[in-house]
Amino acid sequence: MRVFLFPGSFDPFTSGHRDIAKRASKMCDKLVVAIMHNNAKKQFYTVQERVDMARKSLAGYKNIEVISSDGLLADLYRELGCSSVVRGIRSESDFRYETEMYTANKLLENSYDVILLPTRADLSVTSSSIVKEVGHYGGDISKMVPSEIHDFVAETLKKGRN
Ligand code: PNS
Repeated sequence: MRVFLFPGSFDPFTSGHRDIAKRASKMCDKLVVAIMHNNAKKQFYTVQERVDMARKSLAGYKNIEVISSDGLLADLYRELGCSSVVRGIRSESDFRYETEMYTANKLLENSYDVILLPTRADLSVTSSSIVKEVGHYGGDISKMVPSEIHDFVAETLKKGRN
């Protein structure tokens, strides 16, 4: 059983994330999308909200499972018996960040490996940060997030959080 792990903060889940998940799910028997914590970022949505958004966006994909984990990626990788992590890259700076993450995780778990998928050209400027910025000002995010979660994301970003 070939299990791939697609980890991220997914704050919020975007159309770019969905495209990567869809393509990666064809390369393995099971794709586990893991909502995790990124210490370098302040997360806007709760873990439960991020799990719900990913589940709604990926509802049609039978071999994709969405979970959350508040531990180390390398530990989760080992526990799930993964063959590879999957990450999307939009740019050279993403590539640099991903190779650093790979090297750190490889020190923690020797079986750790990663597949980097280039983001679809039309989604290459979409990121969770840009969605948050545009959504905060009430801009059109319909091309940036899956339609299943559009209203929720647009309303919550416009309203903001204390
Ligand atoms: O979508 P992001 O924010 O780029 O995802 C980064 C994420 C959540 C995958 C990364 O921060 C992570 O692996 N967090 C879990 C804790 C951990 O293992 N940190 C060490 C990474 S080298």
